[in-house]
Amino acid sequence: MKAKIIVNKNFAVGEIDKRIYGSFVEHLGRCVYGGIYEPTHKTANDFGFREDVLELVKQIDVPIVRYPGGNFVSGYNWEDGIGDKTKRPQKKDFAWKSIETNQIGIDEFQEWARQANTTINMAVNLGTRGAKEAQNLVEYCNADTDTYYANLRKQNGFEKPFAIKTWCLGNEMDGDWQIGHKTADEYGRIANEAAKLMKLVDPKIELVVCGSSVCELETFGEWELTVLDHTYDNVDYISLHQYYGNQSNNTADFLGRSVHLDAFIKSVVAMCDTVKAKKRSKKQINLALDEWNVWYHSHGAKIEDWQIAPPLLEDIYNLEDALLVGCMLMTLQNNCDRVKIACLAQLVNVIAPIMTENDGAAWAQTIFYPYMYASRFGRGKALKTVTECENYTTTDKFIVPYVESSVIVNEEKRQIVVFAVNRSLDEDMELSFDLGGFDTAVMKEHIELYCDDLKTVNTKECQNVAPKSKEINVQKSAYQQVTLNKHSWNMIRFGY
Ligand code: AHR
Repeated sequence: MKAKIIVNKNFAVGEIDKRIYGSFVEHLGRCVYGGIYEPTHKTANDFGFREDVLELVKQIDVPIVRYPGGNFVSGYNWEDGIGDKTKRPQKKDFAWKSIETNQIGIDEFQEWARQANTTINMAVNLGTRGAKEAQNLVEYCNADTDTYYANLRKQNGFEKPFAIKTWCLGNEMDGDWQIGHKTADEYGRIANEAAKLMKLVDPKIELVVCGSSVCELETFGEWELTVLDHTYDNVDYISLHQYYGNQSNNTADFLGRSVHLDAFIKSVVAMCDTVKAKKRSKKQINLALDEWNVWYHSHGAKIEDWQIAPPLLEDIYNLEDALLVGCMLMTLQNNCDRVKIACLAQLVNVIAPIMTENDGAAWAQTIFYPYMYASRFGRGKALKTVTECENYTTTDKFIVPYVESSVIVNEEKRQIVVFAVNRSLDEDMELSFDLGGFDTAVMKEHIELYCDDLKTVNTKECQNVAPKSKEINVQKSAYQQVTLNKHSWNMIRFGY
């Protein structure tokens, strides 16, 4: 098959907000305990953080990490996780039916974030708690005043405020599984009041209001319109969450799911702009896809309740999962005019690019690689991309191009980075480029993620699915052409 990617230097979608390469650390399973934190591990530093995990996180260059949940946050008392560790209460976490030791809280997590060169996207509990507790948390984290919560932080050893800029107003409040689940009106009211109180303490913070947990919910649409009607003037982003799985083992359909994501994003944008028009507002609400990934391998796993850090949601990812994650990242890049934050859920062990063994190794799952390359090379301006290629139709009638692509220009580095997935399961793709306005562009690098069997996984012993550098044929380079293997992820880098 043949495909052509056409761009023009003058036609951009917009500047990519690096926060679209964010991730998520929830007090869930072994994400925190046994993931980022394991004081008895041989690589643990003075803070009990695993250096082997920090090393992998730094390789990805994660700009923002959502914390501490997720469903967990809707029953969480943030005060349980601060101050003297020996006095912190051990509690039941009813979201995941686990035991929470509270050995890690915001005091420690902000230190981990500093060591990981990242920032925090902090979620407040609007399930069992309200606006006042959220406001107190903002004061604890961000205030420098001579007042109770700011002083409490100082007493706990943190003179300087944590300066957390991005905050989530609860989590998945539309879902009946959520502790403190609410109707759109109930949530819209409390979110708006919380937003006002939080911004009174620190007017510089940015707030994410909960949109739909999944667009298949009956409330999708009405939820966004109602919630935004209540909160429009006081929030900055609306969230959406999206996970996909290949339960029916239909890889063509599965790889086409990023087209579904694109449609989901565009419908949420339409709802934001509907409320904007109705309110005659000048303000634009942007999107935070603050949970997304492939999630299904671990469904149905039997794990005993009420354990400390049980092995929950430990999906082992294969090549086809990495291809979809790659396509979803391109969808985020291609919607960067409205999607400003996105968090791959999650970072370690729990549906994660990084896996660890308690007391043992840490390694990269297959999805680590498209995520790492997007984060490291996908910064700059996303160009409007036309891809000429054949399409196929999924069983639920989505029209999917065989080649998914995005093109990012980094003017400072004078480079053009093309990300491309060949979705064809049996044919290689001859890919050519029309890089309008980049007359001096020369291909520098072609990185590929490919192996013959789509179900291949990585293990602690073997990185079976790892990026390889492909030789650039000088002859072909002049014609700006490459071959994409069947079912492969690719990054092609040009200098100009
Ligand atoms: O990421 C796992 C869970 O998925 C989160 O806790 C929740 O918000 C979502 O349903």
